[in-house]
Amino acid sequence: MKHIWFATLLFSAATAWASSDVMPATASSANANPERGRKLLVNRQETGCVLCHAIPGMKEGGEMGPNLNGLSQRLSAEQIRYRIADPRLLNPQTFMPAYFSTQGLHNVAKPLIGKTILTEQGLEDIVAYLLTATKGP
Ligand code: HEC
Repeated sequence: MKHIWFATLLFSAATAWASSDVMPATASSANANPERGRKLLVNRQETGCVLCHAIPGMKEGGEMGPNLNGLSQRLSAEQIRYRIADPRLLNPQTFMPAYFSTQGLHNVAKPLIGKTILTEQGLEDIVAYLLTATKGP
């Protein structure tokens, strides 16, 4: 009986990434640093997040994307990671950039070909900041 339960658990872990709206923690999540994440979020050159989003703890914020206040109350770390990595997976028409994907990019500047906008560590640092900063008032 025990092994049937274990097989079910393994199966659901394997299918979760492919079939739903979650992206499991990467190896870099162990070293995630919310302060580095905060710096990336406010950096217009590297990420531009604040051009479109109001984010708790940041003075400036845009209104083209959803306000990220209370984000961690409505979404899990895995769901937040998924939305930053490639928002096109949920909405192919979105104008939010896919920060951790190299799929479907055209005419990319030579030094950046094959590279994601965020590094794996950068993605995890941002998730760490958003998780703590958006817990609510
Ligand atoms: C050009 C505007 C733009 C930029 C830049 C942008 N976003 Fe977004 N973001 C959006 C829009 C629009 C949505 C809504 C998703 C959709 O289009 O369906 C969204 C959705 C999200 C969501 C899901 C919010 C929810 O409540 O479901 C998160 C989390 C998020 N963005 C984080 C980020 C982070 C972190 C960055 C920077 C690394 C970023 N965004 C950069 C426009 C942007």
